[in-house]
Amino acid sequence: MIQKLEALQKDFESQIVECQKQAEVLNLKSQVLGKKGSLSEILKSLKDATNDERKAIGPKSNEVKQFIEKSVLAKLNEIELKEVNEKLEQNKIDFSLRDSLLEKGLVDSGMHPVNKIQREVEDIFLSMGFDVLDGPHIEDDWHNFEALNIPETHPARDMQDTFWFKDMKHLLRTHTSTIQVRGMESRKPPFKFVGPGKVFRCERTDATHEMCFHQLEGMMVGKDITVGNLIYFMKTLLKEIFKKDMEVRLRPGFFPFVEPGFELDIRWKKPDPKKGESEHSGWLELLPCGMVHPNVLKAGGIDPEEYNGFAFGLGLDRLVMVRYAIEDIRHLHSGDLRFNKQFKTH
Ligand code: FA5
Repeated sequence: MIQKLEALQKDFESQIVECQKQAEVLNLKSQVLGKKGSLSEILKSLKDATNDERKAIGPKSNEVKQFIEKSVLAKLNEIELKEVNEKLEQNKIDFSLRDSLLEKGLVDSGMHPVNKIQREVEDIFLSMGFDVLDGPHIEDDWHNFEALNIPETHPARDMQDTFWFKDMKHLLRTHTSTIQVRGMESRKPPFKFVGPGKVFRCERTDATHEMCFHQLEGMMVGKDITVGNLIYFMKTLLKEIFKKDMEVRLRPGFFPFVEPGFELDIRWKKPDPKKGESEHSGWLELLPCGMVHPNVLKAGGIDPEEYNGFAFGLGLDRLVMVRYAIEDIRHLHSGDLRFNKQFKTH
């Protein structure tokens, strides 16, 4: 088994150097560390090992796991840095201001809480066998509306105020449900994936609404999927994030792309910034979801007679607000370094 673990580490090392995109790195991590990953497969034969063998295998498997986790983090950072540098290079941005801020230690404020929670949620779904997909911010009408059962004349288009480009054919995506469509187009069922990212809406901001915020879409398609499966994954997600049972309520919700559709709200104690403790407790709309509408499956090239599935769209900024007791969503993107620094963990 020790040899198998060493071979797994070597194999992983040679594969991770080939990864070009963050999604590839995360998928590789899931193949190795996921519930059905190669490490778990090796550890299954632990039951047949002698006591002495077990004493050696335990620390070795931890060592391999830690090595993989460290390498994944390093590779993700490397890719991110490369992408940022490429973009900066293309746009010929002046680095001098950032450099002077760096000298004063102002930029080094740690990972933004939304990125932090996004990675945590991705990890939770990766461990449950989901893939992580990406999609463009600039979308066309088909991926944002048509394929999601929202034709041009449908009143549901007004539910999300859209930033259109001048050609009136392209837009800034209003939700990550676009990744559902792209996911269906690129794979055959059964499959399950999540797709995180920024979304944009031309709407008035307030304590719980931003114009640019983050969602994480999820979709599972297979045979005989039920609302029970959907609720199981939603409950597991919240339990893992909050490390305790949260008070939630499920109520009917309307979205043209799901039937039936639900709104999952979470009990939220809105903090009072002056007193520091909460007075007002209410429900926060967090996680709409439902069973994928047959028209959406058809638009994605999937036969609804044979397959069905569920989908959800989690509001990541709102998840951060509940987790860290933040009373106003606008702090998150204020660019105020004093705010960001509170989340620094190193
Ligand atoms: C949608 O965007 C649907 N695409 C979600 C969905 C996916 C439903 C799959 C069913 C199946 P909605 O507009 O309610 O739905 O937004 C989803 C979540 O994003 C909300 O529950 C909330 O948590 C967050 N959200 C919505 N608008 C804002 C905003 N302006 N600022 C911050 N968070 C927001």
